[in-house]
Amino acid sequence: MGFFERADRLKRLPPYLFKEIDRKKAEVMSRGVDIIDLGVGDPDLPTPTHIIEALKMAADDPANHRYPSYSGMVDFRETVAQWYQERFGVDLDPKSEVVSLIGSKEGIAHFPLAGINPGDVALVPSPAYPVYHIATLFAGGESFFMPLLRENNFLPDLDSLPGEITARARIMFINYPNNPTSAVADLEFFNRVVEFAREHKVVICHDAAYTEMAFDGHRPPSFLQADGAKDVGLEFHSLSKTYNMTGWRIGFAVGNSEAIEGLGAIKSNIDSGVFQAVQIAGIEALRGDQACVRDMTEVYARRRDIMVKGLMDAGIEVGLPKATFYLWAKVPEGYTSNQFATRLLEEAGLVVTPGNGFGGAGEGYFRIALTQKRERLSEAIERLKTVVL
Ligand SMILES: Cc1ncc(COP(=O)(O)O)c(C=O)c1O
Repeated sequence: MGFFERADRLKRLPPYLFKEIDRKKAEVMSRGVDIIDLGVGDPDLPTPTHIIEALKMAADDPANHRYPSYSGMVDFRETVAQWYQERFGVDLDPKSEVVSLIGSKEGIAHFPLAGINPGDVALVPSPAYPVYHIATLFAGGESFFMPLLRENNFLPDLDSLPGEITARARIMFINYPNNPTSAVADLEFFNRVVEFAREHKVVICHDAAYTEMAFDGHRPPSFLQADGAKDVGLEFHSLSKTYNMTGWRIGFAVGNSEAIEGLGAIKSNIDSGVFQAVQIAGIEALRGDQACVRDMTEVYARRRDIMVKGLMDAGIEVGLPKATFYLWAKVPEGYTSNQFATRLLEEAGLVVTPGNGFGGAGEGYFRIALTQKRERLSEAIERLKTVVL
């Protein structure tokens, strides 16, 4: 033991399931193998030029060099409200129902500090974006995992949640379009979630990071379109995936004003808001020409088609996603998720994410992120076939 002893909350972190695969990846790379990385959900496409130009101009203005407002510039929050009205038909009060975030991850990670006490339960999907569970843990809460199963279209089965759990539950995380399963939810599901929230006094946290990354004319709804949603929940949104801005760190939370105020109270004691020049670029993103979003989804749709066909030709079960840039595929018979991912890496130089890394119910699956050019995806399919056929 050295001088620094980690706090218990860090000791309680779940084992990092990608450790072995990260180690193997480094080893395979050191052998000079040309790796095709389909692991990380980080767009390979650049941020659209008009957004970069807005940042450049704003960065030159000394008015933007000072501490920003904790909750976001008025203009940014008004832009978000206007975008919600135009995109979803949802009315938001920019003053009390919108807060800027340093990326949606930041808001998701901080919200349990505002909404749960030690010992309270958070309902967390499995498989899921890992931050829901870890943020719950950091707040001293307990996660109850709701399995997302294919037979339920990867929606949680709300009726099967045990009474002693719903009695202790304070918040529920949901995420549609979903990472990692790429499933979508309709308004009917969101309406049921609102009823559930009312009945059990549970605050709904909907992670809407992928609503704009949808294909074939599909328009994923906002949770806030459900009747009474604003009474029971909030929605986390992000500019990261819609405008290829993962590195810029800008997102927002919208919805129930008390929940937004609570989140703001945590944030104002931890961070000091989003750099104003980045907010001004964010305003340009949301208000400017949306052709870039259409172009982006076309790129991903073409990639999706190549990859889904290739996987099916290789005998791998995979759905055709309506949204997100992820494919959620079954590992072939006879492998665990980890074994299959390891074999693809060692024998084909392919990095995919083993499904169990997103939670126990992800075992038996692997996730592919469509963040490589088409030629590389075709190459990935050829290599994958050498392993499985
Ligand atoms: C489901 C989901 N939510 C939230 C995020 C975080 O996005 P950001 O913090 O960049 O807004 C991600 C990023 O991959 C994600 O997959």
